[in-house]
Amino acid sequence: MSISFFRTPGVLITGVGSVSQIRTEAQKLGATKILVITDKIINETGLVKNVTQHFGDIPFDIIDQVIPEPPFENLEEIAGTIKGKGYDLFVGVGGGSALDSTKVLSIIMTNEGDVRDLVGIEKVQNKGIPFILIPTTSGTGSEVTYNAIFTDIRDNVKKGIVSPYLLPDVAIVDAEMTVTCPPSVTAASGMDALVHAVESYTAIRASELTDGIALQAIKLVSRSLRNAVYNGKDIKAREDMAMGSLLAGISLGNAGVGAVHALAYPLGGKFHVTHGVSNSMLLPFVMKYNVVSNLEKFAEVAKAMGENVEGLSLREAADCAVQAMAKLSEDVGIPKMKEVKGLTEADIPALAEEASKIDRLLNNNPRWLTKREIEQIYREAYVGE
Ligand SMILES: [Fe+2]
Repeated sequence: MSISFFRTPGVLITGVGSVSQIRTEAQKLGATKILVITDKIINETGLVKNVTQHFGDIPFDIIDQVIPEPPFENLEEIAGTIKGKGYDLFVGVGGGSALDSTKVLSIIMTNEGDVRDLVGIEKVQNKGIPFILIPTTSGTGSEVTYNAIFTDIRDNVKKGIVSPYLLPDVAIVDAEMTVTCPPSVTAASGMDALVHAVESYTAIRASELTDGIALQAIKLVSRSLRNAVYNGKDIKAREDMAMGSLLAGISLGNAGVGAVHALAYPLGGKFHVTHGVSNSMLLPFVMKYNVVSNLEKFAEVAKAMGENVEGLSLREAADCAVQAMAKLSEDVGIPKMKEVKGLTEADIPALAEEASKIDRLLNNNPRWLTKREIEQIYREAYVGE
């Protein structure tokens, strides 16, 4: 067995109504002035109030300037506003963008220089100020991962900061906070959780520690995503999604992801397709390419998705996973790559060129792929076959 590290947040609190625990956790962290970091939509829906009502007598401010798929400039702007104001605890409330921003704002406060200098693996020198993360979508797993992704508008490329200091002191995963999440966001983020689970389960860096976690995530998300999308008030479905997304995030954080994410990033950077949608568009096609690399594991994915594989050969059972994923993606209304605004088939070589540079992810994919294969996968996804 090769050497592996397994990291999770300091404290992980789950269950319906668990946001009520925030004051106790804030006190344990010695908070005397809290800053809530979120976006305008989440602030206006009243979700932030659900959290702040539990702060008691601890003073707090709210900054809701995070924008979707945030560029570094957005971070710098917020950092400029909050520096020197004496906040000793950040609370991130929102989807992946708000949570990733909170993680990096924490370390910006204690590390000198340009935030872009922190891009890459373990470039962060100092631990940041304490922070608590509360997701309002089920999918990104940002609350349990130690990376954060931003858009560099200078070259339209998504860039990641990877550091153990990006793990929160506390993560609170409360399904009630996701009930108002609209169907399209529920679908895209839920599919992103599946991408995390499938990619990390079949990744080169997968281990005994992450395999069981990933399979349980696949089971929970597959059985409840349709209900969560079409009947958002179904709290049981929302609980499955919250837990599935959390487990997928833990698995992703420790085993990593692969080619789906690598191929999705250029679509996000160049054509502004959101993270969840770009990943979901590509998942069945990358799975189809990867399936021969580990028939046993893909057959297990099919079983975890609830497919009946009895009497099938191993190869047929593994293929079932690919078909089930394409069906699920279609059922929850994920658009096809052809529908991406401004994208034509002529753009594919440039996308493949960009994706082929993301070694960090491609080296973790279970099947080797070069620019040629990447281009082929994009073409299949574009044509939709
Ligand atoms: Fe993702």
